[in-house]
Amino acid sequence: MTAPEYIYPEGRAAFPHDGLVGIAGLAPHEIWFLLDEAQQWVELNRGAQKRRDMLSGLTIINAFFENSTRTLLSFEIAGKRLGADVVNMAVATSSVKKGETLIDTAMTLNAMRADAIVIRHSSSGAVQLIADKVDCPVLNAGDGQHEHPTQALLDALTIRHAKRAFNGLRVTICGDILHSRVARSNILCLTSLGADVRVCAPPALMPADIERMNVTVFHDFDAALAGADVVMMLRLQMERMEGQFIPSPREYRHLYGLSQERLQLAESNALVMHPGPMNRGIEIESNVADMIGRSQITTQVEMGVAMRMACLEVLTRKGRKMEGWA
Ligand code: CP
Repeated sequence: MTAPEYIYPEGRAAFPHDGLVGIAGLAPHEIWFLLDEAQQWVELNRGAQKRRDMLSGLTIINAFFENSTRTLLSFEIAGKRLGADVVNMAVATSSVKKGETLIDTAMTLNAMRADAIVIRHSSSGAVQLIADKVDCPVLNAGDGQHEHPTQALLDALTIRHAKRAFNGLRVTICGDILHSRVARSNILCLTSLGADVRVCAPPALMPADIERMNVTVFHDFDAALAGADVVMMLRLQMERMEGQFIPSPREYRHLYGLSQERLQLAESNALVMHPGPMNRGIEIESNVADMIGRSQITTQVEMGVAMRMACLEVLTRKGRKMEGWA
């Protein structure tokens, strides 16, 4: 497998976007540019002195209308490591609870002259709605079932670290594809970079028109695993399910859970990934999630900080009037 060469243009043309609402709309060389930008932050974060001041004086607001551990904390750490003032909006005690609309909330944040706003929301499209109303870059930290672009980018960074190239790489994504913004963003990102993406789920958890996304559809997990280079497991998103989508968690585990025995169907050096949070003993067995040398789950978290540093730094260049980035 040879590494594809993505040559990107100089200056702002390398990433001409004003925000990051989704992977949709990004060219492969723009994704590659962000992966290259993130690499320097992987190295910085592995050293003792992790602080830079390039975002000094800027204010970043994290507005998370849905729960999060990894994404919220890594955006906070990312902003602080680059020297920004980072404010986490406490949604549970905010005026949203008094009935303030999303647009009014967005206009309020805008009036405070934030330099970047990071948003997670349960409604697909909510982040674009806000991005259309405010003056600063908006970064999507996950909106409903739509997209979670920084998750896909950090996953690509994790895969590139281990496998170096994407062209022809067989990536099996298994779980609740229907409700998963992570699956959607990863499919867009990985197919754009040349990977051969397989998706696997029970029929009730597979979107009807998924083939349009240039993936191969499986309902038999063993078949989907055969020869896979990367196995990405997703949790059942019970909070987005109304009605019964699976017969029982026990049955689901039997058919779609990743065990050590099942993993042997994949390539002998296949990576195991999971965006978290995991439901150990349902979609993934503990001894697979913790498998040294194969499981990339903690590496994904590490790459998340670096990728979010890259996204914040690149997207604030225009506001910082960085040379060549007007
Ligand atoms: N992967 C992910 O989005 O995790 P959190 O919900 O903890 O942010």
